[in-house]
Amino acid sequence: MDKQNQEAKLQLSYIEKCASLIMEKYNRPLRLRIQNEGCQMNSLQTETVAGMALRMGCVRVEKEEDADLVIYNTCTVRENANQKIYGHLGFLKSIKKKRPDMKIVLFGCMMQEAHVVEKIRSDYPFVDLVFGTHNIHKFPELFYHVLMTDSQIIDIWQDSSEIVEGLPADRKYSFKTGVNIMFGCNNFCSYCIVPYVRGREKSREPQAIIREIEELVQEGVTEVMLLGQNVNSYGKTLDTPVTFADLLRQVDKIPGLRRIRFMTSHPKDLSDDLIRAMAECKKVCHHLHLPVQSGSSRILKQMNRRYDKDHYLTLVQKIREAIPDISLTTDIIVGFPGETEEDFLETMDVVEKSDYDTAFTFIYSKRTGTPAAKMEDQVPADVIKDRFDRLLRLVQEKGRQNSCRFTGMVQEVLVEDENREPGVLTGRTEHNLLVHFKGPRELIGQYVPVKLDSCKGFYYFGSLQQEEK
Ligand code: SAH
Ligand code: SF4
Ligand code: F3S
Repeated sequence: MDKQNQEAKLQLSYIEKCASLIMEKYNRPLRLRIQNEGCQMNSLQTETVAGMALRMGCVRVEKEEDADLVIYNTCTVRENANQKIYGHLGFLKSIKKKRPDMKIVLFGCMMQEAHVVEKIRSDYPFVDLVFGTHNIHKFPELFYHVLMTDSQIIDIWQDSSEIVEGLPADRKYSFKTGVNIMFGCNNFCSYCIVPYVRGREKSREPQAIIREIEELVQEGVTEVMLLGQNVNSYGKTLDTPVTFADLLRQVDKIPGLRRIRFMTSHPKDLSDDLIRAMAECKKVCHHLHLPVQSGSSRILKQMNRRYDKDHYLTLVQKIREAIPDISLTTDIIVGFPGETEEDFLETMDVVEKSDYDTAFTFIYSKRTGTPAAKMEDQVPADVIKDRFDRLLRLVQEKGRQNSCRFTGMVQEVLVEDENREPGVLTGRTEHNLLVHFKGPRELIGQYVPVKLDSCKGFYYFGSLQQEEK
């Protein structure tokens, strides 16, 4: 713990050094544009890097054209995320030609791939700083060296055993936030690059998590989303092991906290005790994201998911028995190598039977270095497209029916934003369903009762109810 604090202290001192150097060199705050790609764990790390940059005295701007410092947190889970970054770099090159003192920083998952770093070294010399997923806390120190030397710095670590606690973050909402409870992944699903770019699974100590949430509550946060690639295996590698179910029970006791969400649950590790904890804990929202990936037991085996169709459907049944109003959502991959029409129909069957509110559907993307990339019978693009369209139709039809099941009821909504139309607010129910309704801006961040008048499929129009006195 001490060593971690020392590292945080060291970086805080580099933040100070950067702040002085920025004033010396630029004589004004740097205008910052920071962008996130990828999952919620990435967003959280983007908020940390943004927090550190703001402490250096940076100010945010909307457009890259206006920025002195452009930072991208990258994702590489599918090929299109990769292509997007290369596209952006071309655009940034043209801006930097006009303003050579602009600084460009890339970090995150894509930077953990050797071929990407090679390409940046050879084709994108105007990128100033590159770091990966294991040394995000080093941003102040690395950026200090960039400012001092004006040369390209690339620092990628292969893994790290420490978790640095206590760095500043600039959160999007003042009343809700994600909290990392673990990093990395040990599952090696055969299609997935995450274990290679995020390293081995590491859990944070429960005390550190609880302390962070207590501090967040002090700052006005009432909803937390506990984040990890597989939260159901949380705590297994700690010196004193703790289960995820027990962590939920502890978080549930924190005074002032109102809602607890979590992501992502791997079906192979979802225990009966977790289902019990979800049912018992008053603050745990009745929403579970349970990625199935495929409905075919044969494909699930090839995917190295370590559960089969029956196991998954039994889990769904158990969860619905314990928490009848639960909202279920999922992720599905179409076109995994060797997927036949028969396999695909098994996926359609799971969608029929599981009654998801939403399913995120992805076309299989071949990731270099994963076992699936070497599998021979890759499915032709036109076959995948046809299956994808059929799946999407079913998912939408079922999703519309399922998410409309609360029509006419009054539910508690956490108000998140004002819509583009002034006077119209947007919030979420505990089931993670969106509701639009008329009300004053001042309600943002508050919990209010809203009658769900009409369902538009995936979201509701509602009306604000008088609070009971
Ligand atoms: N840890 C989470 C998933 C993180 S990645 C879990 O195991 O559920 C988010 C989603 O991206 C996955 O659920 C999967 O559906 C999708 N995905 C991952 N690798 C992919 C690939 N190579 N091609 C297409 N989709 C992929
Ligand atoms: Fe990828 Fe599987 Fe780990 Fe999820 S559990 S991040 S899909 S390897
Ligand atoms: Fe993408 Fe990395 Fe998340 S690859 S999905 S940003 S863990």
